[in-house]
Amino acid sequence: MSEKPWDGRFSQKTDKLVEAFTSSIQIDKRLYAYDIEGSMAHCKMLAKSGIITGDDASSLISGLEKIKTEIEADQFRFDDSLEDIHMHIEDRLFQITGTVARKLHTARSRNDQVALDIRMYLRTETLIITSHLAELRKVFLALAKKYMDVTLPGYTHLQRAQPVLLSHHLMAYYEMFSRDADRFRDTLKRINVMPLGSAALAGTTYPIDRHYTAELLGFPRVSVNSIDSVSDRDFIIEFLSSASLCMMHLSRISEELILWSSSEFAFIELSDAFSTGSSIMPQKKNPDVPELTRGKTGSVFGSLISLLTMMKSLPLSYNRDMQEDKKPLFEAADTLKACIEIYINMLPTITINSESMRQATSAGFLNATDMADYLVTRGMPFREAHSCVGKMVSYALDKKKELHELGIEELQSFSSLIEEEIFDFLTTEQMISRRKSFGGTAAENVMAAIEEAEKSLDKEDP
Ligand code: ARG
Repeated sequence: MSEKPWDGRFSQKTDKLVEAFTSSIQIDKRLYAYDIEGSMAHCKMLAKSGIITGDDASSLISGLEKIKTEIEADQFRFDDSLEDIHMHIEDRLFQITGTVARKLHTARSRNDQVALDIRMYLRTETLIITSHLAELRKVFLALAKKYMDVTLPGYTHLQRAQPVLLSHHLMAYYEMFSRDADRFRDTLKRINVMPLGSAALAGTTYPIDRHYTAELLGFPRVSVNSIDSVSDRDFIIEFLSSASLCMMHLSRISEELILWSSSEFAFIELSDAFSTGSSIMPQKKNPDVPELTRGKTGSVFGSLISLLTMMKSLPLSYNRDMQEDKKPLFEAADTLKACIEIYINMLPTITINSESMRQATSAGFLNATDMADYLVTRGMPFREAHSCVGKMVSYALDKKKELHELGIEELQSFSSLIEEEIFDFLTTEQMISRRKSFGGTAAENVMAAIEEAEKSLDKEDP
């Protein structure tokens, strides 16, 4: 293989072990398209600034185009002795164009080059993720609309608490994924900053035009401090933090789907196409997709912690440690995209067992709060009502009955304020429809929230 571009001051050949140890090509080769696009823009800028001739720029650009075609046709040779994607492309360019290739690296270094490549990669990934998230949110909206008449227990502490509309529960996830999308869009502002031309760390003596490079590459901003430009990886950490939060949300719905599809809950059934069987127990239908999503959440958190730990205490500016950023970053981005994508496809195939959900609202004293509220509407102070209903619950527990299964005389023995109308007052439908406070589960609120969400999703930037 060719000589290394940096080997002028070396008198010994690099040890094979060191070559293998320092090489990142197997991981960073996927940045090739960004690297080539960045190099083309750099060439144009060098020519425009009179640093290289227009002819040189043209032959460099056509060489770079040829390399792109070769890589995409699987006709490009990758070799550990050339470390990374930047050196591979430069080396091949030399073979294609001859000495003019050596001019491409004028006024830049791999330190600003790699920062540019990752920023371009992350900008694309972030846009893919926000558009995946928009699809996912549309799925939640469609399900929320479809299941407006389904009720189920809302839980706190995983204990039945108060009845809610399934649509309200689904819209809670809509909110979570909307915040995720917002976070990614916000992170994009700090990803979308152009570092090239910072060179190794101190800037360059050539009369370059960094703003022109930024314009060619569609960056709205140019980084302002050359030292910071080559040593900043905050934008990766922010991206991983947004990815971690989004995975955490996916792990929560995964956990619910796992619980809800168990015989103990029997609230839903996953479709056969999105379940797997057991090789030993013929009756089993396992929720592997939610389980794996829950499991993969850990590896995305791991990527975030890797990056934070890698950057902790690093002196300015670029340090080779930073080459270790790519593997966890790529893995996390790939995992998140795959999980969102499979959820977009799986969620609509779930069968909702509305009868068991409804049944579950009629046991477990879900109407105890409403019984207290009833007494309050009839003039009893809330604390007193709370304690009165507590006694009723204890009595009903003894009788193995629910509050609405007690007779009117039994109820009246706790308070003479109670009248026959109480039985209507305590139905699941009534309990839900009374919760009209903004953000509450009453159907009219939930419908309004869905409509509002549909409007804002339509207006949203990608
Ligand atoms: N492969 C390196 C990385 O990903 C590129 C920059 C290397 N710079 C250097 N001076 N060795 O960080």
